[in-house]
Amino acid sequence: MNRRQRFLRACRCEPVDRPPLWVMRQAGRHLPEYRALKEQYSFHEIAQTPELALEVTMQPLRRYDMDAAIVFTDILVIPEALGQPYGFPKGGGIEMDFAIESADDVDRLSTDGICEKLSYVGQALELIRAELGEERALIGFGGSPWTLATYMIEGGSSKHKERARELFYTDRQLFDRLLTKITDALADYLQMQIDAGADAIQLFDSWGGVLAPDAFEDASVVWMRKLVDAIGDDVPTIVFSKDMHEHRDALVSTGADVLGVGWTARLADVKEQLPDHVAVQGNLDPVLMNTTPELVARETTKILEQMRGYDGHVFNLGHGISPRCRIECMEALVETVSNFK
Ligand code: CP3
Repeated sequence: MNRRQRFLRACRCEPVDRPPLWVMRQAGRHLPEYRALKEQYSFHEIAQTPELALEVTMQPLRRYDMDAAIVFTDILVIPEALGQPYGFPKGGGIEMDFAIESADDVDRLSTDGICEKLSYVGQALELIRAELGEERALIGFGGSPWTLATYMIEGGSSKHKERARELFYTDRQLFDRLLTKITDALADYLQMQIDAGADAIQLFDSWGGVLAPDAFEDASVVWMRKLVDAIGDDVPTIVFSKDMHEHRDALVSTGADVLGVGWTARLADVKEQLPDHVAVQGNLDPVLMNTTPELVARETTKILEQMRGYDGHVFNLGHGISPRCRIECMEALVETVSNFK
């Protein structure tokens, strides 16, 4: 069985007569039932309570007929388990409790017991896997080491990730030590997710696109390659490196089975240039979800038409869902993909 067949089998989408459909992260925020739960519990409480994580993971699937669920957690649980907690300040974005500034800060991070510290994610995956049944796939995930490092070095959200880019150029030894710790922690964590029932693993290299082309390999790709290697052939891997679709060879060299593609690329052009065994995932502009069902149907059909005849397309948004997403728009998306002939 080749990698593509395994991928489709893992997604429980074979045989396919239309692209499988799943939707990217943070789907919950546009749902009244998620917002209601958030009145009672904080993000951390939901994520750390397997029964609540199960509930919010299933919420979008109860409304929308999709082929896969994505476990409710966050990429930032890895810095937290390493000893650098995070929070969501009132004004939006992410705030880490401190920023990584020195060798001492890196030394203080501990890769011991990552799976024990994050066992609640494994428990949530087991509950979700049991609830999903055989028809729908379960996607586990992690941030790419580079993307996590940006939050850790910057001490939270930042526009251009300047401190992280600076550290990469000025102190490669320290940068590599930090990225090695993150990668080691992720390798254990992702394996735990697979053991707990994840059918595929997605790496979110959300901030790959802030890197200079000559830095991309050493700052991000090499670490993702280590993780894809560590995952091996157990389950398919999806690498989403936002705005880096032009770096096809580098992305293919990670060994990923699927490349997530943002909305600024023409999906068929990306697919055309990839080896046959590499599938693409994408790539509707997420702002369409804030507009009208008619616009969603029209633009979704354009992508489906463009991809007609290509094997290996998972329909998805080009990035995450905004809280402004309209339920009618999601319904139009699902209906358009499901009824496409
Ligand atoms: O659909 C899902 O809910 C799946 C779980 C999921 C979350 N985060 C939950 C979450 C996934 C897959 C993520 C990935 C994630 N988290 C990424 C990579 C994907 C991407 O967008 O590129 C990144 C960069 C993060 C870090 C993060 N977490 C950000 C930037 C934010 C938004 C902070 C803000 O400005 O509000 C979060 C919060 C977050 N993670 C929410 C959810 C459901 C929103 C929490 C809420 O407001 O209720």
